[in-house]
Amino acid sequence: MAGLLIKVKVDDVREEAEHIRSFRLSHAKGKLLPAFSAGAHIDVLLGNGLKRQYSLASDPSNNTAYRIAVLHEQNGRGGSAWLHEHVQSGSSLVISSPRNTFALSEEASHHIFIAGGIGITPFLAMIPALRDKGQTCELHYCARSKETAAFVKELEAYSDQNMIKSYFDGGDPSKGCNISAVLANRAVSTHLYCCGPKGLTSAVKNLAAGWSEGTVHFEHFIGSVLDASAPHEAFTLELQRSGIIIGVSTEQSALQSLTAAGIDIDVGCESGACGSCITGYSEGTPIHHDVCLSPKERLTHFTPCVSRATGALKIDL
Ligand SMILES: Cc1cc2nc3c(=O)[nH]c(=O)nc-3n(C[C@H](O)[C@H](O)[C@H](O)COP(=O)(O)OP(=O)(O)OC[C@H]3O[C@@H](n4cnc5c(N)ncnc54)[C@H](O)[C@@H]3O)c2cc1C
Ligand code: FES
Repeated sequence: MAGLLIKVKVDDVREEAEHIRSFRLSHAKGKLLPAFSAGAHIDVLLGNGLKRQYSLASDPSNNTAYRIAVLHEQNGRGGSAWLHEHVQSGSSLVISSPRNTFALSEEASHHIFIAGGIGITPFLAMIPALRDKGQTCELHYCARSKETAAFVKELEAYSDQNMIKSYFDGGDPSKGCNISAVLANRAVSTHLYCCGPKGLTSAVKNLAAGWSEGTVHFEHFIGSVLDASAPHEAFTLELQRSGIIIGVSTEQSALQSLTAAGIDIDVGCESGACGSCITGYSEGTPIHHDVCLSPKERLTHFTPCVSRATGALKIDL
């Protein structure tokens, strides 16, 4: 089901670092925006027909306005470029209500955040959320240089500077954060969160391989780009509530087949990253290609935008 859409006005635009701009969004009719939890993101519907996701980079205790920060992606398909080139103070935008695929754990005794570049955004909501609850965290913020790192001044304003460390490596990760050292000597109930480019998330994933299940959390801004030349098997989807059976051909995604059959399903990134299209299943064997579901979630859910199945998959629709 498509979520709630909200018309917002842009009431502040700021240059935060090289190629990174922040946008402050408030309700077009002056109402409060929906409450959100730290780690949440919204869809932004762009004037060029694209839809892109942005993490909420502001204090969740304040829902008079949201802040997002956008890196102008030089090799992108035009989403971030449109926001940089067409949106200014006074512009109107349409956004979705917030959705969270990167929530803080309620059980953790301490939280370690590792951010790379624009991956700092969700942590700008998490730090004040934890501070309000009196819980502890530490942030390790990796960037090429101070000029490309957004919000450094804002982070420097936190009184407890021991909890925030910035690393400027000039593009050579070996000169930056020593992740092994960061992960050493932690309490068992510590949770780890990482958001950043693939090199950083892969390194963190490898180094945290021995952590208990459910204690390591990732937010990926870029999903899977499926290899169109790789052979795909056709399969079927059985809609549990109506019993309707829908075929998914080798050329189609499950999402395309569902949409073509008139099934209303929420769509965001279409690359397995944002979680908009997550659908439950009760029988069958999915082939997961997403980057947003945990191993546990994959036992009961799949993302029809990129994931496929072997044979028949009975889904909760
Ligand atoms: C949950 C979530 C939160 C996010 N939060 C932020 C945020 O806070 N700030 C921010 O700047 N961005 C964020 N993003 C990323 C954002 O949604 C956009 O992807 C980004 O702005 C780039 O959009 P674009 O259209 O300019 O580039 P895109 O076309 O989306 O390209 C992005 C990258 O993917 C590669 N790519 C090329 N072709 C494809 C393809 N067919 N499918 C997929 N990728 C392809 C491109 O080479 C490029 O490196 C978030 C994404 C998600 C899923
Ligand atoms: S649309 Fe984003 S995960 Fe499927």
